Amino acid sequence: MYICICNAIKESDLRRAACAGASAKDGDVEAVYAAMGKRPNCGQCLEDAQAIVDEEREMALMPAYAE
Ligand code: FES
Repeated sequence: MYICICNAIKESDLRRAACAGASAKDGDVEAVYAAMGKRPNCGQCLEDAQAIVDEEREMALMPAYAE
């Protein structure tokens, strides 16, 4: 599913980019777009895209499940 029509960014690609930059200080969705070589145009996707980025960052910061 495309999350950003203007930039043809798929949700899976956004999740992967957010995950790759999860340790970066700036978790802003625009920073993730920039890391992908994109930048927002109409801005309609930003709220949903930020929620996805936040979700990926939260999961990345969760401690590993120790056995
Ligand atoms: S849909 Fe993402 S900037 Fe327009």
